[in-house]
Amino acid sequence: MKILVTGGTGYIGSHTCVELLQNGYEVVVFDNLYNSKIEVVDKIEEITGKKIAFYKADMLDKESMRPVFEEHNFDAVIHFAGLKAVGESVAKPHFYYQNNITGTLNLCELMNEYGCKRMIFSSSATVYGDPTQIPITEECPKGQCTNPYGWTKSMLEQILTDIQKADEEWSVVLLRYFNPIGAHESGLLGESPNGIPNNLMPYIMQVAVGKLPELGVFGDDYDTPDGTGVRDYIHVVDLARGHVNAVEKVTSTNATNIYNLGTGNGYSVLDIVKAFEEANGVKIPYSIKPRRAGDIATCYADPKKAKEELGWEAQYDLRRMCQDSWHFAKQNF
Ligand code: NAD
Ligand code: UFG
Repeated sequence: MKILVTGGTGYIGSHTCVELLQNGYEVVVFDNLYNSKIEVVDKIEEITGKKIAFYKADMLDKESMRPVFEEHNFDAVIHFAGLKAVGESVAKPHFYYQNNITGTLNLCELMNEYGCKRMIFSSSATVYGDPTQIPITEECPKGQCTNPYGWTKSMLEQILTDIQKADEEWSVVLLRYFNPIGAHESGLLGESPNGIPNNLMPYIMQVAVGKLPELGVFGDDYDTPDGTGVRDYIHVVDLARGHVNAVEKVTSTNATNIYNLGTGNGYSVLDIVKAFEEANGVKIPYSIKPRRAGDIATCYADPKKAKEELGWEAQYDLRRMCQDSWHFAKQNF
């Protein structure tokens, strides 16, 4: 089977390419390299010993994507390409709505035109807003997103659901990721954000390598066991493996299916600091800061549906996530 991976040189996309190739799929990638580097293609090939076809294409320029569809017949598309920085989306909403929504509509038009109507879409736990139940099942109602990035995910879920409803040749899998961290065990693939990181693990790694003096912990007065925010951190390789299972689903049904991809475990900010220190023998100085606007207290998944229907569950524990993050950071930061 041949799979198109949009945004395949990015953090989650690159790990997914590795898992697909190792499971016998052919992989074609396009990316505009806005938030990733072309060298990632070589690294994927180095890890797997297999070739991928790479195209530099931008979803906002529909014609730049056309050669990808002209030259290949795809069994499914895994759609990672998008912008994802929460703070930037608040400052530049037009840029986010345009890129993520117009870009995805352009992609869907080409998929229709070339008769490939199966899409796995990167959604996010952010669509639950402040969740009405913990752990969060897929039945939990969607909530109010606190930023334009989150709204693009929520809106695209609706758009893809409507597209599938109108044309039953379409098959859609919406994957709601919880908090991906970690890196490939080779140390060749991982996440290295530009500038000062917004997310917890990239920030911790910058402190660990000595580029930033200390971690600011955003609030210690939440209604959680130690007062700091609780999240469901999932190893990026586990998340990538979930996409391989989702390919089987999207190619065997004509429906819209939604799955949480999380571990089902909630860890606080201070749990993560402690786990990182213990796993790697590196001290992470921190101080308590005010709450960050838009943050919720607790967010973790009930991953039962993915286990039952996709036959997938996360395997790596928090210690391993911290070790692999650090292994990558030491070589690449
Ligand atoms: P990433 O930024 O590393 O990868 C996204 C890729 O998309 C980048 O390589 C970027 O260059 C590319 N891209 C962006 N706009 C494009 C365009 N117009 N045309 C072509 N390529 C374009 O991000 P990631 O962490 O790998 O996330 C992948 C997907 O998963 C994104 O859609 C993201 O919103 C979603 N997601 C991520 C997280 C997370 O915490 N990392 C959580 C939930 C959902
Ligand atoms: N945190 C700190 N200090 C920091 C960074 C984060 O204390 O410097 C705390 C946050 O307050 C939160 C936790 O660490 O309690 C996790 O924060 P992240 O920014 O790493 O992740 P979020 O849960 O806020 O959001 C992430 C992505 C979203 C995505 C969501 C669910 O940024 O895009 O996970 O998948 F939607």
